Amino acid sequence: MLVPVLLAGGAGTRLWPLSRESRPKQFLSLTGETSLLDQTLSRLVRLRDLGPALLVGNAEHRFVMAEQLRASGVEGKVLVEPARRNTAPAVAAAAFDALAQHGEDTDLLVLPTDHAITDDEAFVATIERARESAAAGRLTLFGVRPDRAETGYGYIKAGETVAPGVRDVNAFVEKPDMERAKAYVADRDYYWNSGMFLFRARDYLDALEQQAPAIHAAARSAHAQAQTDMDFLRLDEAAFAASPVDSIDYAVMEGADRAVMVELDAGWSDLGSWSAVAQANGTDADGNSVHGDVMLENTQNCFVHSEGRLIAALGVRDTIIVETGDAVLVADRGCEQQIRTLVGRLTDEG
Ligand code: GDD
Ligand code: MG
Repeated sequence: MLVPVLLAGGAGTRLWPLSRESRPKQFLSLTGETSLLDQTLSRLVRLRDLGPALLVGNAEHRFVMAEQLRASGVEGKVLVEPARRNTAPAVAAAAFDALAQHGEDTDLLVLPTDHAITDDEAFVATIERARESAAAGRLTLFGVRPDRAETGYGYIKAGETVAPGVRDVNAFVEKPDMERAKAYVADRDYYWNSGMFLFRARDYLDALEQQAPAIHAAARSAHAQAQTDMDFLRLDEAAFAASPVDSIDYAVMEGADRAVMVELDAGWSDLGSWSAVAQANGTDADGNSVHGDVMLENTQNCFVHSEGRLIAALGVRDTIIVETGDAVLVADRGCEQQIRTLVGRLTDEG
């Protein structure tokens, strides 16, 4: 059985001020009418041998998650994290739950809920291709052919072909610096990590136990003491809080020795920055991407988003302008990875 694990606990700080603590980007409609979580849920229905989904996220967002899950018609439940510990413990808790519910022969399809995919058919075909390697005990990653140097992604160095469309992973580097990212993009063997993973639940837990035993132990005990509360399964607060904070990429994938990669060519786009949102939504002849009540004059290569008030820009280049009810962001496009730091300061000082 294939259990989809949807990770919906991120803060999405680089899309501030639209993405907020109270409503991060996975719950927003950044491309089209529906939210990114909703789009991720709706892609599941065509997968073969599909088990009930596990939607994993923060206690604060449990009602939004439950509401979007119900509306999607996908069967599943919400696994509630009492604190944010990043993705390695979140996936571990889901793995313990899937094993307890469905037994040893359970595969997990881990899906972030912060990206867009335009070709659903290719997505389904790629997952099917990956299922065989997962069944053979390999941690399976999905690589996207890079088109620019990006420091916000993980990079996979693909090696020998082990089956049609499946290659060994020779190295995995999470969030390299700009110099290394540039070298990787120039090398045809490097791919972006899409953030999706497919493996047997047991294989992930074994790899985690070996490489990050404290995360494994905390997730196991948080799940063993979890409480059912209405439609939610709440992980034990004290046990989960004891987990180190780490992502699946750093904690497991960088050190994994039996990983393989399947190339994903399905119009994938991580909506991790305003430039990525602009690219996914398309730009006009001047390179501008606008949303809402916006008036531009002699302006190029800008991303301008208004939630309500009119934004008028004149003679502006390479700038991000985002207006919401209580905050306005004006940023140079070259600085967009630093929006995260800015938001950190706001939270500290506010
Ligand atoms: N449940 C849960 N708990 N989910 C979380 C948590 C958490 O504590 N933290 C993050 N998430 C969710 C996010 O909402 C997102 O859907 C997904 O997990 C990935 O987390 P991000 O924080 O967005 O990771 P990233 O974008 O910096 O990096 C990952 O994605 C890149 C591609 O988009 C990595 O996997 C990179 O290697 C990859 O290239
Ligand atoms: Mg992300």
